[in-house]
This record gives sequence, structure tokens and C-alpha cells, in this order.
Amino acid sequence: MGVLTDPKPRVKPRNAAGGQAHPSGDPRFKLIDRTLKRFSYQQDALIEVLHTAQEAFGFLEDDLLVYVAHQLKLPLSWVYGVATFYHFFSLAPQGEHSCIICMGTACYVKRAAEIVSALQAEFGVEAGNTTADGKLSLNTARCLGSCGLAPVLVMDGDVVARQTPEEALARVRELLLGAARTPEAMSELTPLSATEA
Ligand code: FES
Repeated sequence: MGVLTDPKPRVKPRNAAGGQAHPSGDPRFKLIDRTLKRFSYQQDALIEVLHTAQEAFGFLEDDLLVYVAHQLKLPLSWVYGVATFYHFFSLAPQGEHSCIICMGTACYVKRAAEIVSALQAEFGVEAGNTTADGKLSLNTARCLGSCGLAPVLVMDGDVVARQTPEEALARVRELLLGAARTPEAMSELTPLSATEA
């Protein structure tokens, strides 16, 4: 067998602005660069840029926030504040499925806290975290803007309205089981309080 050679000369890649590419060489940063360029590096494109970053990387790790802050010439504290304010941004790796429970006032008075407690107990995970098997991320949010539907949950991106704790539990169980109905997956996903099923 012949020796494989790189046919292209090794030229240092550049980002959309013409500067040096991200030192990690990770090509996903190019996606962020494209969005930055599309919005002409305007600071009010921060949310769009963070969306792209999260889509490309799955969550917003510190390195990404630093990169975006640097590119938009914004203070890191500002970028971090925006990333933590909006429920759709995540600063930690997420599970296969996600369940966000609104804890705004309208939802709170309609038993949102009970829903959180029930899910935490059932799946053995605290809100803001992911189960040890990586199947479910449980998060809470401030008002999701649909108070008339309280209590509101968002399950894998779908808005679910007016849930009792029991209904919410049943839906999350279904969500997890629906993705993989193999015999092994079914036994793996047996809820902690199986008597309720
Ligand atoms: S308080 Fe939950 S949607 Fe407004």
C-alpha cells in the first residue's frame, strides 16, 4: 500500500470575518461564524447566535459563551446572563429527552411545584439535571408566556397544557418509552414508583 499524503496544502483556516478560525479547529465554530456574518456582527443578534451555537454543540459550554462574547464585543457577564435567562438555552449537556416545567406565578398556583416534585421522585433526578442514564433532562423555567394554559410543560419541544401531576408523570413515562420500545429499554425505564403505572 502506498503512503497516504494530504493533497491540500496546510493553510490555516480563517473564520467568516477573515480572522483566525477558533484555535480548537472544531468545524462547528464555522456555523457560528456564518450566523455572526449573516447578522453583520450586530450585538442585538446575540440570541440568534446563541441559538446557532446550541444547535451546533447541543449546549452552551463556557468556551462558546466566551467565543460569542468576544466576537460580538459584549461583556461575558451579559452573554452569560442572556444564556441563563432563557429556558431554551442550556449550559449543561442535555439528555435524550427533555421536560421543562414552568414555575411562573400562574403555573405555580396550578400545582407546578407538585409536578416538579413528582417527576423528581419518579425519575430520581433534581430539576436542572439529567438522569444518570442520560435519558431525561428535567428543567424549570420562568413564565413561558402561555399563562392561560397553566400549568404549562414543554416536552421535547412540544407545549403540554393544563397537566395534573399524575398526567404529567404519565406523559413523561410515555415520552421515554415511546422512543425505544425494545424489551431491554422497557425494563430499563421502569419508573421508580412502578405501582403508579
Ligand atoms: S406562568 Fe407559566 S406560562 Fe406564564
